[in-house]
Amino acid sequence: MKKNIFLIAFTSVILLLVATACNKEEDDAATVPICDGSSPTYNNTAKAIVDANCISCHGTGSYKGDFTSYSKLETYLTNNTFNNRVVTLQDMPQSGALSDADLNKLQCWVENGYPEN
Ligand code: HEC
Repeated sequence: MKKNIFLIAFTSVILLLVATACNKEEDDAATVPICDGSSPTYNNTAKAIVDANCISCHGTGSYKGDFTSYSKLETYLTNNTFNNRVVTLQDMPQSGALSDADLNKLQCWVENGYPEN
């Protein structure tokens, strides 16, 4: 009987730890961007966001991806890596996700098929 109580207590502690760990992960999870209703294009919106937040690493000839023009960025739009890394995983830029306002605009850009103009 004593053994059973110990087992139940032990199991409860483990379950509690697991639950806490899971909750923590949820708290840290990226917020899902929601299109703010705007109709951004590369030229009027996305370029400025990329120039300000990405070009330091993704400059001319970068092996990680050269994002200095629409035509160079296009590969990453078409193969979905831009959307995946910036909007979904939010592990780009490496220093931390973009602001919610920028992410919401990029979400519209994704939904509209990345128009250039
Ligand atoms: C501090 C440097 C840094 C900044 C700033 C940065 N990146 Fe990156 N990025 C990297 C590195 C390093 C890699 C390659 C390693 C990896 O995939 O994680 C990479 C990879 C990527 C990839 C995957 C490329 C591939 O071939 O699969 C995409 C897409 C990307 N970055 C998008 C962006 C965008 C968009 C921004 C700006 C919003 C950005 N990154 C800002 C350093 C950076």
